[in-house]
Amino acid sequence: MVMVLSGKKIVLGLTGGIACYKSAEFLRAMVRDGAQINVVMTDSATHFITPLTLQTLSENPVMVSQWESHAGSPLSHIDVTRTADAIIIAPCTANFAAKLAHGIADDLLSSLCLARPSHVPLLIAPAMNVEMWMNQATRRNIAQLKADGVGVMGPAAGFQACGEVGMGRMLEPQELLAETIAAFQPAVLKNKRVLITAGPTFEPIDPIRGITNRSSGKMGYAVARAAWEAGGEVSLVSGPVALPAPHGVARHDVTTAWEMREKVMSLIADQDVFIAVAAVADWRVANTSTQKIKKTGSAPQLQFEENPDILAEVASLKKPPFCVGFAAESEKLIEHAQEKRSRKNIPLLVGNIGEEAFGKDENELILFDAKGHTVLPRADKLVLARSLVRHIAGYL
Ligand code: CTP
Repeated sequence: MVMVLSGKKIVLGLTGGIACYKSAEFLRAMVRDGAQINVVMTDSATHFITPLTLQTLSENPVMVSQWESHAGSPLSHIDVTRTADAIIIAPCTANFAAKLAHGIADDLLSSLCLARPSHVPLLIAPAMNVEMWMNQATRRNIAQLKADGVGVMGPAAGFQACGEVGMGRMLEPQELLAETIAAFQPAVLKNKRVLITAGPTFEPIDPIRGITNRSSGKMGYAVARAAWEAGGEVSLVSGPVALPAPHGVARHDVTTAWEMREKVMSLIADQDVFIAVAAVADWRVANTSTQKIKKTGSAPQLQFEENPDILAEVASLKKPPFCVGFAAESEKLIEHAQEKRSRKNIPLLVGNIGEEAFGKDENELILFDAKGHTVLPRADKLVLARSLVRHIAGYL
């Protein structure tokens, strides 16, 4: 497992909202990823969850009052942010966001935020009633915080504890973890639009059967996640796979190569990067049957027709995005990959030995461009995806 938060010191601040119950799970998720957590709570937060719970999970004392001395010195609570890698306020109430936006420091947590060194990133996970979120005052405060460089995680829309429905729910613990990990990745694709295809396609023979391949979608999904972590606005066109959509990525499900082509072409305008990771079936069955083909004593005769080459079509657009292809080969990787790169007329092609990679968590990639090739040695697919994304950003 890749542990991005390993050794990172994070100050987790809780303010008074019902979403505090999710913060315990978020804390655990960060600890599992290797982070060291120091919890600071406002007095209101202690009405929703006890300091003891968070102390037990973080294995560190929880700070609440600015009038208690910590570690023997009345000012030592400031130290906790001096050595921190990030401060995360989750949940962050409308009231606390207002204090942050205006530099008010009237309790320990707001004082710590105001006194934090400028290099320590501050992230907030707003959680509030929909009307509070939509209120002009909150809109102004959130806009101000963003302009000040504060990372705003969510909120999400949905059912709220107060019974209303709308924007203002705090993100789920795993989503907060994904956002926190992203905050530690270089934002090399900031303001870039990235379109990715992933997974296999499925070409029907009859209503029950079809032709597909062994692609699990793991590599494409890892690339989508890495592109989002790097700040990209990511759309993922996915064939049938058993994977959840990565947080922050707009996923579009398709089945056949033809559907994948249609979806890609409908989204291609204004994309900066197109990464074709999908294992698209080269042929589809021309004589599909509308009813299940029955055994008749002789094998059915399938006829095939070629599917559109999505990557080649995108690469031949008048103003193509930066195009990246993937090639899973079974032999002669270098030869086949360079030939494929020039045939499809794309600047970058990523090669791997397919049978060693399909369905696995690890892979080894070779990047082919006009100058030659670069090896990304065997590693977890997410680690490789992050490295690939940085390579791609280097070409833009
Ligand atoms: N690709 C595509 N549309 C297709 C076939 C492939 O967009 N109909 C893309 C893949 O997503 C991949 C790249 O083209 O990024 C290379 O796919 P591959 O199947 O290896 O290449 P082919 O051109 O089909 O060559 P071959 O199967 O003969 O090796």
